[in-house]
Amino acid sequence: MVLQQRAQLKSAEEMPGSFGGSKGETEELFSGEEMFYRQRLERYGSIFKSRIFGKKFAFLIGPEANRLVLKDKADCLSAGQGWVFLKPIFGTGLLLQDGKQHKATRKLMHPAMHGQALNNYFATIDEISQDFLSEKATGETLGAIDSFTEFSVTVALRLIIGVETPEEFGEALKHFLTMLVGRRARIHIDLPFTLYGRSQGARRKLKAFLQKKIDKRRKNGDLGASQDFLGLFLASVTENGEPLSDTEIIDQLLMVLFAGHENPAVLISWLLFELDANPAWKERLLNEQAEVVGDEPLQLSHLKQMTQLGYALKEVERLYPPVQNISRGVLEDIEYDGYRIPKGWMVDVSPLLTHRLPELYADPDRFDPDRFAPPREEDKQHPFALVGFGSGPHVCLGYQFAQMEMKIFMSLLLRNYDWKIAPEKSAIAPVYEPSKVQEDLEVSLHALAESVPE
Ligand code: HEM
Repeated sequence: MVLQQRAQLKSAEEMPGSFGGSKGETEELFSGEEMFYRQRLERYGSIFKSRIFGKKFAFLIGPEANRLVLKDKADCLSAGQGWVFLKPIFGTGLLLQDGKQHKATRKLMHPAMHGQALNNYFATIDEISQDFLSEKATGETLGAIDSFTEFSVTVALRLIIGVETPEEFGEALKHFLTMLVGRRARIHIDLPFTLYGRSQGARRKLKAFLQKKIDKRRKNGDLGASQDFLGLFLASVTENGEPLSDTEIIDQLLMVLFAGHENPAVLISWLLFELDANPAWKERLLNEQAEVVGDEPLQLSHLKQMTQLGYALKEVERLYPPVQNISRGVLEDIEYDGYRIPKGWMVDVSPLLTHRLPELYADPDRFDPDRFAPPREEDKQHPFALVGFGSGPHVCLGYQFAQMEMKIFMSLLLRNYDWKIAPEKSAIAPVYEPSKVQEDLEVSLHALAESVPE
């Protein structure tokens, strides 16, 4: 019976789509990723094949595909192969681990991103948000992503790798930013005058910086006392009661730093963009801030009460997911919708395209946060309809951290500042290529009279 069913399965080679010429479709993909996927979805439907960097890919679009790839068949798939391009720069941290190794690391990291640890981070994020906003609210026009990334990188450097002084901050920031540039390097030659070489040099310096911090903390003892990810991680032990090696800790820190440094800034930028175009929603969020926080200093307990802000954040996660596509390497054959996808292929699911499917979301290009409120709750029709933070074993470890960070920042901004953002939505909507548009978003911030927090 099983044999008969297998015989009826079609080969993945028979999927609609094209493997392209001798170089596959790599050039087409890099000339505009979002349109590459969108056009193929329109042309071929929700399953199509391609060949990128010499690898055969099955692109599977929609909530059932998300369920299969992110959760049900996660054991047959490799996140390490999907994120392999990060390896030379960020090493083999959590995101690139698979199976038992991944499970064990995640268990170790979990306490540093949840529960009491998260509560302890509140005051630092609040302080960084206040400092950032008062410094930037000059009315000057700034690149939105770049400046909000300055904020989220500051949060990450302070709370993840535990920088303590302005000197440490300056040093770590310089190395981290130079290291990041290596992502754009097409040729990986480690010489001082190549892009990749400069990035590798910065990676070595950042690793040395982290080693020095680890040595200092170990020497001072009382590892768990510091209220940051590094401290909690240094104090944790494996199932065998062993502490983690320094190399392992450094690799993991670099990975969390990478995962947490930019995405909150992307969602904050898009939220400001949408609120500018939707004044009724801006008003609603301002009223919510007045009701929940009023003139009190912001407290952790307020954040849970910001339901409308929660819906608005979900709506920008849906429309502009910073992680637009998630790829995995196939370790064991899997089946999907009548096709057998063999070992050695790659599979790819798309939060971006799933989130714009009209069968899941009414009028999907429209900013309409009420779609998440009862009774509509459109995301609840399918457990894999909203996957901006992933799902399954690799679901974003920093989900609660990110929500807290974005809510604190937005609460302070809404209560004490106003902004202008360009270009206007009416000039460019609907935005089908968020990654291109976001590079050009410009923002200016202004303090509201007599309301800047002390
Ligand atoms: C708005 C912000 C964020 C978005 C949209 C986001 C999205 C994601 C997604 C989609 C994944 C899953 C990737 C996959 O399945 O291959 C992921 C994983 C991860 N994220 Fe986030 N993230 C955000 C913020 C953060 C922050 C602030 C941190 C840390 C402070 C963080 C830490 C991580 C880590 C460590 C993983 C790897 C989990 C694993 O492999 O088990 N993220 N994130």
